[in-house]
Amino acid sequence: MINKIITAITWRVWNLISVIKWEFSKTGIPPHSIKQRMLRLYKNRHAMNVLIETGTFKGYMIKSMLKHFKVIHSIELNEVFFNNAKELFKKYSFVTIWKGDSEFVLPKVLEKISESCLFWLDGHCCIDEGKITSIGLKNTPILKEIISVARHQKAHNLKHVILIDDARLFNGTEDYPSIEEIKKLIFDNFVDYEVIIKNDIIACSPLK
Ligand SMILES: C[S@@+](CC[C@H](N)C(=O)[O-])C[C@H]1O[C@@H](n2cnc3c(N)ncnc32)[C@H](O)[C@@H]1O
Repeated sequence: MINKIITAITWRVWNLISVIKWEFSKTGIPPHSIKQRMLRLYKNRHAMNVLIETGTFKGYMIKSMLKHFKVIHSIELNEVFFNNAKELFKKYSFVTIWKGDSEFVLPKVLEKISESCLFWLDGHCCIDEGKITSIGLKNTPILKEIISVARHQKAHNLKHVILIDDARLFNGTEDYPSIEEIKKLIFDNFVDYEVIIKNDIIACSPLK
């Protein structure tokens, strides 16, 4: 028990220090809590109840959003991460973890959706403890994911919000489209939307 409390306090202090350091320097990758803040900001601004995440990983984003969303869907390709997340969130009936490549699974999740959602598109190849996590057909299925969201939005007359993580990677190499390509895809498919890059996130949302 004492050990758990000490670990929790240490983690919070370490997190606070990294946020303060990052706020002052604004260099490098923002801490995860800064990204969580972005999700809360867009959730509140657009009154969203449903979060759809691609790339569950260790469930950090789901865990931080449990209090903020009524429904959460998350898709993970890696079998170990998928099984761990299923176990971790089994007591939360409003959380569903899906297994597979989000390029193909996201359209299936969307079949269940009839309201505007916040998308956290983060399902891409990454390194964990020196090992590659998982790769689908491409290092990132982002273009296919955006197209699926656009189709769903048009079919149901909704206004989704899309947050794409790791903006720094979108440079036109290794399957990552450039930011300009992403912007073009958004502006071609979503009417009256703005795209801003902040805190290493590409944020695509309806103009109010
Ligand atoms: C950067 S991590 C996600 C972090 C998580 N979203 C968070 O905020 O805590 C990327 C995850 O995406 C998974 N992944 C990679 N390609 C994928 C794909 N095509 N479909 C679904 N998940 C994928 C990886 O296995 C990894 O767990």
